[in-house]
Amino acid sequence: MPTLIETKLKQERLLRIIEDELQDLPPLPAVIVRVMQTVNDPATSASDLNRLISADQALASKVLRLVNSSYYGFPRKISTVTNAVVILGFNTVRNLTTSLGVFNAFDSQGQKTALNREQFWAHSLGTAVAASALARRKGIGSKAIEEVFIGGLMHDIGKLFLDQYFPDQYAIAMKLAAAAKISIWESEKTALGVGHALVGKRIAEKWNLPTSLTSMITLHHQPAFAKEYFEMTATIQAADHVARKLGLGSSGDTLVPALSPEVEKWLAFSPAVWEAVETDTCRKFEESKGFLQVL
Ligand SMILES: [Fe+2]
Ligand SMILES: [Fe+2]
Repeated sequence: MPTLIETKLKQERLLRIIEDELQDLPPLPAVIVRVMQTVNDPATSASDLNRLISADQALASKVLRLVNSSYYGFPRKISTVTNAVVILGFNTVRNLTTSLGVFNAFDSQGQKTALNREQFWAHSLGTAVAASALARRKGIGSKAIEEVFIGGLMHDIGKLFLDQYFPDQYAIAMKLAAAAKISIWESEKTALGVGHALVGKRIAEKWNLPTSLTSMITLHHQPAFAKEYFEMTATIQAADHVARKLGLGSSGDTLVPALSPEVEKWLAFSPAVWEAVETDTCRKFEESKGFLQVL
């Protein structure tokens, strides 16, 4: 049985290695960086975005598969990026492309991992559709509805990093969560010395992800600390709760986390509205399953 000091030392050593791996994390592909930069450049047109994305054929075809999924429900096939921009809007196409770039960076390519990736993507997609259902019912505006969808997709990216670079320790974190009936966010701290939300924050900062997205990734387990983006971050905590309650995918533990009192107070949903959110989420999750094949 290791002593407390031995455990602490081991944890500190591991933290240093995690820190090194975070430093060495490769940058996002240049095309993704340029696509993200269009947010600060109002002069960028739909055809600029088309040119950027179409320069990478594999990326363009993935974007088209996403926009043609029945989640967006267009009767006709959208066959070019320009069309996608015209029909779905600049922001939707840009945000979807950014998430594809981030997820590609964590392609495990057959490497050993502890997390079941298919289940992980289903959890991420479940959280994304729940987030937009919640945001719609709460009436927080169409731009926010779209942002929380992407926030839901990406909220747990810290887990992908920890699982990819430290699969053995991640397997221990998962076992610990199951045995002690605690959340994986708690057990990661014991097994690895750091939780996925903090690791996600470091990745988001390193890759200059938008600040609202960084808030959702960093504070989805502690939304009360989110100052500027409380509403979006609170939505992600609630969406994570809904996705888990409905059993959509899995991301390392089976706990259905309670909502923070601040989130419950802000949403102030009646039981009937909660039920409607769950129904919307189940329906939209079914419609968006095409996303899973692309991811
Ligand atoms: Fe999380
Ligand atoms: Fe989650």
